[in-house]
Amino acid sequence: MQKGLDLKAKENEFRELKEFIDSKRDTKGILMQTLHKAQEIFGYLPEEVQKFISIETGMPMAEIYGVATFYTQFTLTPKGEHTIGVCLGTACYVKNAQLVLDKLIKELGINVGETTEDGLFTLDATRCLGCCGLAPVMMIDDEVYGKLEPKDIPDILNKYRK
Ligand code: FES
Repeated sequence: MQKGLDLKAKENEFRELKEFIDSKRDTKGILMQTLHKAQEIFGYLPEEVQKFISIETGMPMAEIYGVATFYTQFTLTPKGEHTIGVCLGTACYVKNAQLVLDKLIKELGINVGETTEDGLFTLDATRCLGCCGLAPVMMIDDEVYGKLEPKDIPDILNKYRK
């Protein structure tokens, strides 16, 4: 169960978000801009932040939730310290990227889009990362790992666990 935000501790962040909304009040597309800004400030879009945006903009929660969940660039849960992106583009897929992803799911005990309980890893599936010659490929933060086999995964993860 995800913990709620400590609103008191985030006073400055909410103030910054309010100033942003105030500066955009009469502009078109305020919701997308506000969600981007909120994610930049908080790192994700928890319910408390969505409620705040709803109150400040007058938009219904359902609309805000709908947009926040429709676009993959928004996340409703906090990201881990390290983000793993497994490429499921065509070149990687035909080279068994799914087996690499299955191994990660097993090793981390989470599904795609989730974060480990210790907050260390977030697992994502991505489109082509632009290095198909190395298929199957995954990225951890800015580092590319290519020509992967499922058996490589535990050692790679251990590098980040130290
Ligand atoms: S399809 Fe995976 S890097 Fe291009």
